[in-house]
Amino acid sequence: MEMIRIANSADVQEDKLLPASAGGTPLLLTRVAGKAYAVSSKCPHVGMPLGKGKVEGGAITCPWHGSRFDVCTGDNLDWCNAVAGIPMPGWTHRLLALGKKPAPLPVYETREENGNVFVRVPG
Ligand code: FES
Repeated sequence: MEMIRIANSADVQEDKLLPASAGGTPLLLTRVAGKAYAVSSKCPHVGMPLGKGKVEGGAITCPWHGSRFDVCTGDNLDWCNAVAGIPMPGWTHRLLALGKKPAPLPVYETREENGNVFVRVPG
């Protein structure tokens, strides 16, 4: 699938999330160490929106149950350890997971050219 222009480079900033859409797929854009990244806007836990999540140091934290993901690779860093930003004790984490196993966050290939960000979303 071809790459789709999705944003102005200047609008994609470090430690900030920019909602966007490519080919009907909702995404979030951010910048890590100068490079633009595009990730799914839905948490792989139970599909809640990540748009109000916190992104810091190349990791995004889900605002619902605290799962964290590497924005560059999609790797899961923490899984279901909080509720609405409030850390929960370890014994609750399996309950919060609702039977779901840790999963990565989909990351989409990006390219920047002439002040524009392009993304490739599988069809
Ligand atoms: S929906 Fe993101 S951690 Fe539960």
